[in-house]
Amino acid sequence: MISVQEIQDSIHQEMTVFEEKFKDALKSDIALLDKIMHYVVKRKGKQIRPMFVFLVAKCLNREVKESTYTAASLIELLHTATLVHDDVVDDANERRGFFSVNALWKNKVAVLVGDYLLSRGLLVSVENNEFRQLQVISSTMKEMIEGELLQAEKARKLDITEEVYFEIIYQKTASLIAACCTVGALSVTKDEEAIARMKKFGELVGLAFQIKDDIFDYGDSDKIGKPTGNDIRERKMTLPLIYALKNSSDEVKRELINIVKNHNEEPAKIKIAIKHVVNAGGVKYAFDRMIDLKDEALKLLQELPDSDAKNALIGLVEYTVYRDK
Ligand code: IPE
Ligand code: IPE
Ligand code: MG
Ligand code: MG
Repeated sequence: MISVQEIQDSIHQEMTVFEEKFKDALKSDIALLDKIMHYVVKRKGKQIRPMFVFLVAKCLNREVKESTYTAASLIELLHTATLVHDDVVDDANERRGFFSVNALWKNKVAVLVGDYLLSRGLLVSVENNEFRQLQVISSTMKEMIEGELLQAEKARKLDITEEVYFEIIYQKTASLIAACCTVGALSVTKDEEAIARMKKFGELVGLAFQIKDDIFDYGDSDKIGKPTGNDIRERKMTLPLIYALKNSSDEVKRELINIVKNHNEEPAKIKIAIKHVVNAGGVKYAFDRMIDLKDEALKLLQELPDSDAKNALIGLVEYTVYRDK
C-alpha cells in the first residue's frame, strides 16, 4: 500500500500553492479576527478534502487548473467553518490536539468566526466567477445543515435506525467529500458522466470517512487530537451503538439506553456504555460496513487510466479507513 508521504508527494506542489492561497484568504484587518485566523491556520488538519480535489482533477486531466485551486480553498474554508461551529454545537473544547476556538474565545466569538470563514470561502469562488462550483457547494451546505439538524432531532428522541444514521452521515459529511470530487472533476473536464462518477465515488468515501470518525469516538482520545466518548455525551447514536442496541440482551439494552438518556454526562458511565458497545460487536460491525463502502468506492476508479495520481487517490481512500487520527 502506498504511504501517506507518497500520497502527499504526488501533489506536493499543488498543496504548497493551495496553503498560500488559503492563508491569504484568511487575512483580516480586524485584530481579534486576524489573531484567531492565525490560530486556526497554524493548527491545520489532515487536509484530506483539498487532497481529494487535486487528486480527482489530476486523475482526469494530469494537470490541475486555476479553478482547481479555487475549489480546494473554498472547500477547506467551508470545512474549517463547520468545525468551528460544530465544536460550539457539540460543546467540545478540543480540536486538532489544541483548544477549540469556543474553548478559548467563547461561543459568541466562535459563531462569528465560523461565519467569517464561510463568507471568505464564498468570496473566493465569486471573485473567480466560479458559479457552477458555487452551485455545487451551496447545495452541499444546505445538506450539511439539514444533516446536523436531523442528528440533533434524533439525539433528542433517541429513535434512530441504521437507515436514518446513513441519511445523517450522508448529509453532514459525505455530501462535502462528494462535493470535493465533483468540483475537482468540474475544474478539468466537461464530461458529465465522469463528473457524476466522481461524485458517486466521493459519496461512498465520505460515508466510510464518517463511520471511521464515529468508530474513533469509541477509542482513545490521546491519539486523535479530539475528545472521545463525546457522541454518547451528546446523545449521538452512531453505527456502533445502533448495532449494539439491536443485538444485545434486554438487560444490556436497558442499561445502554439509561446511560445515554440519564447518565450521559458521567465519564464512568460512558466508559461502561462503550464497553457494552464493543462487547456487542458494534465497533466490528461498523468497521465491516466501512470496508464494504471503501471497496465499492474503489470499484468506481477501475476504469480510469493508470497514473501516479490514480495510485495516490486509491491510497487516499485506503488512508481514510486505516488512518489513526
Ligand atoms: C472532522 O473532519 C469532521 C468530520 C466530518 C468527521 P476531519 O477529520 O477531516 O478533520 P481535520 O480537518 O483533519 O481536523
Ligand atoms: C462532524 O461530526 C460533522 C461536521 C459537519 C463537522 P462530528 O461532530 O462527529 O465531528 P467531530 O468528531 O467533532 O470532528
Ligand atoms: Mg463534533
Ligand atoms: Mg466525531
